[in-house]
This record gives sequence, structure tokens and C-alpha cells, in this order.
Amino acid sequence: MYRIVERRQLVPDTHLLVVEAPHVARKVQAGQFIILRPHDEGERIPLSVADWDRDAGTVTSVFLEAGASTMQLAKLQPGDTLPTYMGPLGTVAEVERVGTVVCCGGCYGIGALLPIVRAHKEAGNEVICILEAHSSWLLYWVDRHREVADQVHVVTSDGSAGDKGLSFDILQQRFDAGQPIDAIHAIGCTFMMERNSLAALAKQTPIRITLNPVMVDGTGMCGGCRCVVNGERKFACVDGPEFDGREVDWTALVERRKSYRAQEIASLQQYESRGFLGSSAAVETLGERDE
Ligand code: FES
Repeated sequence: MYRIVERRQLVPDTHLLVVEAPHVARKVQAGQFIILRPHDEGERIPLSVADWDRDAGTVTSVFLEAGASTMQLAKLQPGDTLPTYMGPLGTVAEVERVGTVVCCGGCYGIGALLPIVRAHKEAGNEVICILEAHSSWLLYWVDRHREVADQVHVVTSDGSAGDKGLSFDILQQRFDAGQPIDAIHAIGCTFMMERNSLAALAKQTPIRITLNPVMVDGTGMCGGCRCVVNGERKFACVDGPEFDGREVDWTALVERRKSYRAQEIASLQQYESRGFLGSSAAVETLGERDE
């Protein structure tokens, strides 16, 4: 069992989770993720790693309450335990000394971006962060990014903090102004990563993105996280989660996410009616879809 050291809401619907998991803390690197279960009968939840403390043996994630399983997770308190905490999983972020790197984060991705920003700085790059949110009250960890990055731009859809717009507006402005960008990293919702990837593609600039598809086993066996990259079938849990954003088939990715909507709604209804989410048929049918 894995003890929760801290679980608190950072901003509405977005939570910090710190778990005692020395086996993960010892080895985890930027870009990797873990899979946990909130209780014995719970579904598996993949979460990007946002920080770690190797001495204390703790691992930090930032997660969004996006469905029944993450709602259950958001109810847990410090001292509670998790039956499953697998990791570190996935590939390590591709980081090398290239010059100027723009790192874009939105939603849960503001947290997940931090180790990548740190890795780019340690590699000797100039790092410019663009942190986006719909409004000022949904921003968090701006100071933590300022401690690491050379510059931090804040951008909000309603203009209540920083510039008005979204991260790809700032990225496009930098491109249009001829400011140097040697590489880009983006983590956030699918729309944000797609738009930043299209901007990068137009300028032939490398961009790495971190996909967040539905995952079940995290070992490449169930097929739940299948995606298409450079025309080939890939599994985000073992081949990613990080890919070249210019090569991702974004249309196929969005369609695939939609195909799980019925199961997600069923899980939510089960949770709302019983206040409990067991190992539902929703999960069991994922494998059948991929055969
Ligand atoms: S979660 Fe990737 S194949 Fe199962």
C-alpha cells in the first residue's frame, strides 16, 4: 500500500497528489508517468509525474477531476493509502542542448511541464515557459516555473491575467517576430497540443507533446492507448507518452477518445448512484475494442 502524503486542491477541479512510493521516486525522470488505483476495486488512472523527492521517496502529480475515477481520487486525504502505484512508466522526455526551447503548459500540464522545464535548463538551454488557463483563478505554479525558467509568459482566454489568448497565440507571435525557437514542448489538452503542433509544423520546428489517451494496463497489452504517429500504430504507454507533435494523427486521436464516451458516462452514472466505482464493465470492454 502507498501512503498519500498530501492531496489538496490547487485550483478548482485540479489537485496536487504526493504519494510515498520510493520505488518510483528512485528512478523516475522527466516525461514519465505512473498508474494508480484509488482503492481495491478502482479503475487504473494514469498520471504524469510533476515532481519527486528521491530522499523522501515521494512522487508528485497534478490531476484534473475529469471523470468518476479522478473524482474518487480527489476525495482521498493525507494518510489514506492507494493499493496500486505503478511506475515509472513510459519513455523519458527527449531533451538535449539546442538553444532556445519554448515550453507550453495548460491545465494539469502546467504541473507535468515542470520536470521538463527543469531538464531543458539542466541541458543548458534558454527556456521560455508559456502557461495558459481560461482565467486567472485557474492558474497555479507560476512561481515554481519562474524559479526554473528564463522567462514565463502567462496567457488567459479571458485576459484576466497576462496576455489574452492561448499558448499558440504567443508561440505564433514569437514566430512572426522572428524570435529564435529551436524546439518546443507542449503538455495540456488535446486541442492545445494540436494547435501548437500545427504552428510548429508550419515553421518546421521540432515539437514534443505528451499524449494523454485512455490507458488501462500501461504495458502495451490492452490496446487502450493506441494512437497513430507518422502513419504507424503506436501505444502511448510504452512507445510514448511523448511524441513528435508534427507526426501525430490528431483527427484519429480525437475520434478514438470519443469512442470511450459511453463507458465514461456509464462510470459516472455508477459513481453518482452508488458513490462508489468498482471494476466496471467499462474497463473490461476496452480490450475487446482493440482486437
Ligand atoms: S494502456 Fe497502453 S496498451 Fe494498454
